[in-house]
Amino acid sequence: RPLLFSGMQPSSDSLHLGNYIGALRQWITMQDEFDALFCVVDLHAITVPQDPAELRARTRATAAQYIAAGIDPARSTLFVQSQVPAHTELAWVLNTVTGFGEASRMTQFKDKSARQGQESASVGLFTYPILMAADILLYQTAQVPVGEDQRQHLELTRTLAERFNSRFGETFTVPEGVIPRASAKIYDLQNPTAKMSKSAESEAGLIKVLDDPKATAKKIMRAVTDTDGEIRFDREAKPGVSNLLSIHAALTGRSVDAVVEEFAGGGYGDLKKAVAESVTATTAPIAARTAELLGDPAELDRILADAAEVASERAERTLERVYDRVGLLRPA
Ligand code: TYM
Repeated sequence: RPLLFSGMQPSSDSLHLGNYIGALRQWITMQDEFDALFCVVDLHAITVPQDPAELRARTRATAAQYIAAGIDPARSTLFVQSQVPAHTELAWVLNTVTGFGEASRMTQFKDKSARQGQESASVGLFTYPILMAADILLYQTAQVPVGEDQRQHLELTRTLAERFNSRFGETFTVPEGVIPRASAKIYDLQNPTAKMSKSAESEAGLIKVLDDPKATAKKIMRAVTDTDGEIRFDREAKPGVSNLLSIHAALTGRSVDAVVEEFAGGGYGDLKKAVAESVTATTAPIAARTAELLGDPAELDRILADAAEVASERAERTLERVYDRVGLLRPA
């Protein structure tokens, strides 16, 4: 089976609806067809300041949400990045084949470092995409299901794989991104031209998977729309309504057109009620199951440790080949 790899940062107390619709949902449907690895990328999370106890709790909570949403640790390898040393080891080598200018063009770095202030942004934040490339290339990954905001990082990953292969000989599979067309970008409910993000200034437009369903429904009922009163999909003129339509379509497994047809002629209130229902019907069971899983952290830690061992063994094979290709003297 072809290899699939993806990951999320444990940088919030809960995943949000964008993480679920843009990525996690795809992972679940793909895990049968693929040899799948799903990673909690804790080393990425420390590229911005973190609270240590919180990071540990969020790492477990992120893994628990993967499982609660439907990732089966018996079929897929679900592990924590920092438990597999090869990720940072390969990242170092990839650092040496990445151009400074090339890394400087990453728009997420520009956005995040601008938000933090150039002086306080860490070098880790700058090299973040190279660690991400290492995550992917270590496993000879064929496909990487992610949201739209990761497109540029994936392009860099492909470029680095091709460059390394042509400089040192065929070593890496060049991976493909799997970015769903309609739902790869979910927007903030209060600011529907900005992507839904854990780093938004206010949480009013952020739907968290682990939030109380009543609070979630309330946020959806208060979502920003527009004043023309018409239900149709138009990202430019009607970003709020369009976002609600794509959320509902994604969660009910229908096309946006079918959803528009159902609600055309009705009011925004009816659409919002339906969206609140489809969202909470998705998130409430995940939240309940997550709480159960977090009730037995020793069991969760054991699942993660076992998977890290499996992942390490596979990652080591690529790393050894890489070290050898670049001319590092291997122990006798
Ligand atoms: P992260 O943790 O920011 O997000 C996890 C996944 O959620 C997707 N996503 C969204 N999709 C749709 N709408 C949104 N508003 C939205 N917000 C986030 C992201 O595209 C992502 O798929 N760099 C990655 C983590 C990473 C990774 C990897 C991913 C590290 N190594 C290797 C794949 C392969 C990140 O920060 O994702």
